[in-house]
Amino acid sequence: MSCGVKTLGQFIIEKQADFPYAKGELSRLLRDIGIAAKIVNREVNKAGLVDILGDIGTTNIQGESQKKLDVYANEQFISALSSGGECCIVASEENDDIIYIDSAVSHNAKYIVCIDPLDGSSNIDCNVAVGTIFSIYRRKSTEGKAVMDDVLQKGTAQVAAGYVIYGSSTMLVYTTGKGVNGFTLDPSIGEFCLSHPEMKIPAHGTIYSINEGNYVHFPTGVKKYIKYCQVEDVESRRPYTSRYIGSMVADVHRNLIKGGIYIYPTTASSPNGKLRLLYECNPMAFIVEQAGGKASDGRNRILEIEPAELHQRCPIFLGSADMVAKAEELMQLYGAQADSQAAEDKLRDLNIIGGLD
Ligand code: AHG
Ligand code: MN
Ligand code: MN
Repeated sequence: MSCGVKTLGQFIIEKQADFPYAKGELSRLLRDIGIAAKIVNREVNKAGLVDILGDIGTTNIQGESQKKLDVYANEQFISALSSGGECCIVASEENDDIIYIDSAVSHNAKYIVCIDPLDGSSNIDCNVAVGTIFSIYRRKSTEGKAVMDDVLQKGTAQVAAGYVIYGSSTMLVYTTGKGVNGFTLDPSIGEFCLSHPEMKIPAHGTIYSINEGNYVHFPTGVKKYIKYCQVEDVESRRPYTSRYIGSMVADVHRNLIKGGIYIYPTTASSPNGKLRLLYECNPMAFIVEQAGGKASDGRNRILEIEPAELHQRCPIFLGSADMVAKAEELMQLYGAQADSQAAEDKLRDLNIIGGLD
């Protein structure tokens, strides 16, 4: 293309040289996801004009009501991944079980895709940014049909991950483990164009994002971290700003650019957290780490968690490295030994005023 614009397609082909033994399948897979994202974007943009808002009247395996756009986005991504021929299994938030892609072209396909086709879909009816999150693994088994074990791999095994944000503009952000790059959709030419090369998350930010309405149900470490965020301290630019959209993609995208922390902890009603390891936490953790940030379940690195089931959930602390480290410190301090002298001393050190409530 002229004018110095680099499209997603051009960028992917250029970067293929980073994988000398790859035969281009991953590049084609990423390209297919980019095409499906454009189709979903077109529908998201029309929401309100056509009959695509609202619930479809069904629930997914997690008991969440499905929106028409959840189902539409799911169909578009599965269809793109089926016809491409590079993917043998899709694991989607919207499907109870894994989907085997059994077409002639994908019989020996090497890749597994885990996907949240529409993230933040409860926001769609009121014109708030939503997203798509995807994670790509190489299958481990070498012969026959791929199996569930090929899907249940640790986040460290991801070969690529990304998200699309359908916002005031539409962006696709992805990593193949060599940094993070962001592409903005130019609607006039219908192409994602490189707009955010080598994205880096500031080591320290001033935004915390959490659904504070659940405060009473949070673990003590999280309550303490919130207090920490709210205490005045000139040097660390506290009190921090609270920003919570309720679409993980949009909240994390903003924090990636500006610096900040996103937390979805355990709560009384979600004892394992709400977000799903395979298609929400792992891909976002991979992206944030590749941008220089940190992703934890409060104690351990998200990417090291051994998945046991498809729709497994986990608590998540994600974002600027210093902020996640501080939250982990308080989680550890107020874990097993809540209210101990050490914890109280630390509280005083951090100048967190107020009790445990
Ligand atoms: P999804 O729409 O894919 O089910 O995901 C919704 C998730 C996530 O995007 C968001 O951050 C979180 O749920 C919001 O949950 P609360 O409404 O409980 O804060
Ligand atoms: Mn989601
Ligand atoms: Mn979803």
